[in-house]
Amino acid sequence: MPAKRLFIKTYGCQMNVYDSERMADVLAPLGYAMTETPEGADLVVLNTCHIREKATEKVYSELGKLKEMREERLAEGGSRMTIAVAGCVAQAEGEEILRRQPAVDLVVGPQAYHQLPELIARSHRARGERLSAEFAADEKFDALAPAGRRAEGVTAFLTVQEGCDKFCTFCVVPYTRGPEWSRAPAAIEAEARDLAAQGVREVTLLGQNVNAYAGEGGLAALARRLAAIPGIERIRYTTSHPRDMDEALIAAHGELPELMPYLHLPVQSGSDRILKAMNRAHTAESYVRLVERIRSSRPDIAISGDFIVGFPGEREADFEATLSLVREVGYATAFTFKYSRRPGTPASAMPGQVDEAVKDERLARLNALLDEQARAFNASQVGKTLPVLFERPGRHPGQLIGRSPYLQAVHATAPDRLIGQIVPVRIGSAARMSLGGVLVVEELEAR
Ligand code: 5AD
Ligand code: SF4
Repeated sequence: MPAKRLFIKTYGCQMNVYDSERMADVLAPLGYAMTETPEGADLVVLNTCHIREKATEKVYSELGKLKEMREERLAEGGSRMTIAVAGCVAQAEGEEILRRQPAVDLVVGPQAYHQLPELIARSHRARGERLSAEFAADEKFDALAPAGRRAEGVTAFLTVQEGCDKFCTFCVVPYTRGPEWSRAPAAIEAEARDLAAQGVREVTLLGQNVNAYAGEGGLAALARRLAAIPGIERIRYTTSHPRDMDEALIAAHGELPELMPYLHLPVQSGSDRILKAMNRAHTAESYVRLVERIRSSRPDIAISGDFIVGFPGEREADFEATLSLVREVGYATAFTFKYSRRPGTPASAMPGQVDEAVKDERLARLNALLDEQARAFNASQVGKTLPVLFERPGRHPGQLIGRSPYLQAVHATAPDRLIGQIVPVRIGSAARMSLGGVLVVEELEAR
């Protein structure tokens, strides 16, 4: 049987990246091999994101292009392309997708990917029958057979938790990904062992609320368990809610060398009034104190965050409170967003929606400050020697790219055999997004 070609386009968060890989895994036994472009593909899957309006609109415009591509190919006597929409837009707007874009054959929500082979078979049998599968039971991970996954490279994502019970008033995640749910530690350990055996050295544990991980002993115990696996040398996790940052996890940062000193800890706003309206369950003050506690456990930890500007009711004074929180915390890096009104969320119906122009202006000011902090953080590494895990060849011949413990990209001249190894690199230069350095051994040899 000739291989069928599968193209998956992934939008949004790292959890979608993980899910796309698992979809490729479940489709491989059906004869689907991955291809780099939709042209010529037999099956196209859009793994979508619903978090902000822009992300959702991109999906509909991509679907329009795919429809044309399919019609052209059929007109030329080519084979028919099956078009599937997966991910959070599928979950949130399943029926609407089928109505808005008649070219879509399949709609499959994030909890139903294990049903993909069956859905595709059914859709092929009943030509033209359009199918949709949404919330299924917690069988997703068992059925996706992660033990059989193929690792690519020396770092890997590993989903340990899904869903959210926090209901921040701006956010669609509790509706698209469902309630918080954690995988069993033994299943996660098995997947990590399998990855380690394939050469993976660093795992990033994923969850919408990863630090709410509810397996025995919480995320701290899970990290210790995974750190004991031979070959697993680095552990990261994302995304964390300040509310779930417990003492055991804070302590683990000080005690467990495998746990990398980088923490993505979204704050969203520095104004207590806005935080309350967002239903964030923390204040600016409690967040700053939390960061202090984390830093007393692991003084060099790099903090990153998410920020929303222009939440309904945000006044200049609220925004300035965000700027002063940023100055107080000092971020290594950050993600900033203009508030996007999401249908069905409480904030979309709140009074005091902020003008786009005001959002733009605040975003620019916040970005300027965070940019300055990111540059300063990177510059502070110059002259230091950092352990770098080399991941892949760089753009220039003879160059490798790796990551520092703080998740900075590091470029250095190094032989390919160092890919997958953690090597001391003396940092010589810093830019906004990356560092440049020299292998310490080479420096010694040159003397
Ligand atoms: N508008 C803008 N940003 C949002 N985020 C979530 N929902 C919205 C929204 N409606 C941001 C938050 C979250 C990140 C993943 O996306 O900052 O932490
Ligand atoms: Fe969305 Fe808040 Fe849950 Fe994060 S914690 S996924 S922002 S509802």
